[in-house]
Amino acid sequence: MQNRIDLFTLVHKGIRWWLGSVSATLGAAEVTSRGFVAQLDAVADLLAGLDEHARHEDTFIAPVLRLHAPERATAWAAEHHAFEQAERELRAMLAKLRDLDPSDGAARVAVLALYRAFNRFTADMLLHLDREETELMPLLWARCSDAELAAIMTSFKAQCGVEAASFYRRNAAAYTQSERVLLGV
Ligand SMILES: [Fe+2]
Repeated sequence: MQNRIDLFTLVHKGIRWWLGSVSATLGAAEVTSRGFVAQLDAVADLLAGLDEHARHEDTFIAPVLRLHAPERATAWAAEHHAFEQAERELRAMLAKLRDLDPSDGAARVAVLALYRAFNRFTADMLLHLDREETELMPLLWARCSDAELAAIMTSFKAQCGVEAASFYRRNAAAYTQSERVLLGV
């Protein structure tokens, strides 16, 4: 299957790197430090990036999956829906933290709760990304022609090329040298 178009792996490498770096940032976040608000912003930026990625998958991949593997499409959509809910909960925790007085002990408790929740979310997301690469993509390879897969990539690049380039630039550290050349970052 190595020569066939892979819709997931490259972008997911960037997501994995981004999740890991935000996890490390949150683990080191000190509520009384000057940089704390920026650390919360880093979580919000990642959640926005994940929304964008899910929108890309829902727009360009879901229709093909519904056509060729409807039995799998429903479960896949449910997974994405569950992540939307989990993201809402993380955003609510962020909002609560922004309102707390940093000198209050409750802020330290809340940031630890956010750190744990973010890492549970990350654990679920890592498994989801893995399923997409190791189960969904082989299913699409089995049921879609190269022309169909190429058409997905062409539409995606035409409509979301700027967003994709920004994503790859932002997460350039996730990639091997040859991947960076391929991605232009
Ligand atoms: Fe996904």
